[in-house]
Amino acid sequence: MHKADIHKGYQILVNRQHPIKDKQYFKGQLLPLGHRFNDSLLEKNTANLLGQLLDMIGAEEKIVLVSGYRSKKEQEEIYHSSLKEKGKIFTQKYVALPNCSEHQTGMAIDLGVRADHIDFIRPHFPYSGIAQVFREKAARYGFVERYEKSKEAITGISHEPWHFRYVGYPHAQIMHNHDLCLEEYITFIKDYKFGEKHYCFPLDNKKIEISYLKTDANSMDVEIPDKLCYQISGNNVDGFILTTWW
Ligand code: DAL
Ligand code: ZN
Repeated sequence: MHKADIHKGYQILVNRQHPIKDKQYFKGQLLPLGHRFNDSLLEKNTANLLGQLLDMIGAEEKIVLVSGYRSKKEQEEIYHSSLKEKGKIFTQKYVALPNCSEHQTGMAIDLGVRADHIDFIRPHFPYSGIAQVFREKAARYGFVERYEKSKEAITGISHEPWHFRYVGYPHAQIMHNHDLCLEEYITFIKDYKFGEKHYCFPLDNKKIEISYLKTDANSMDVEIPDKLCYQISGNNVDGFILTTWW
């Protein structure tokens, strides 16, 4: 593993303190969602799992993807037009600074309940009806509601019931079970240092283990048994999160 790779992966934290570093990484891994979703783009697994979740709850006609992947230029345009039209206070609450937006990773989605008029910055996605059905199943598909009311002081973004982030399973489920936002989860997982201990997530008669590796040198070797399925993601802060399926 190379130090530069801490800025890649499904569990990267992107916020004002931890901007996007690897601008090229997601290019070529974005999937067009077609007409049904205003031709938006999303990171491949994010797109496929979102599609599966919407199908599973029968929401294709009821929920619309209002915003998916945004280039840095698009985020700049949104930020500046919001500043002009809505002012600084509103914009700082609801629009991330360019390079500090999860939308630039292709792993963030803004959802709205289908309607004639949809607010692009703050779509209607209530805690009832089909939107709530989506919310209740989201963690199983790897999605978290990213900007909750109770976490405003930590995320630095106001309550956004419409914005979901793909972090993968079981990470989304653990965040949900422990009531952790992504900032808190990144810190939480640091307690489970690779080689010392791991977070164990039981699954049927198997288990998923999660641990944290801090990067000290420019590169490091980690040995993983051949028979294991695993995933490694940077945290975009100072290390990696290793997930293994036993
Ligand atoms: N609305 C979120 C914070 C963004 O602009 O990325
Ligand atoms: Zn959003």
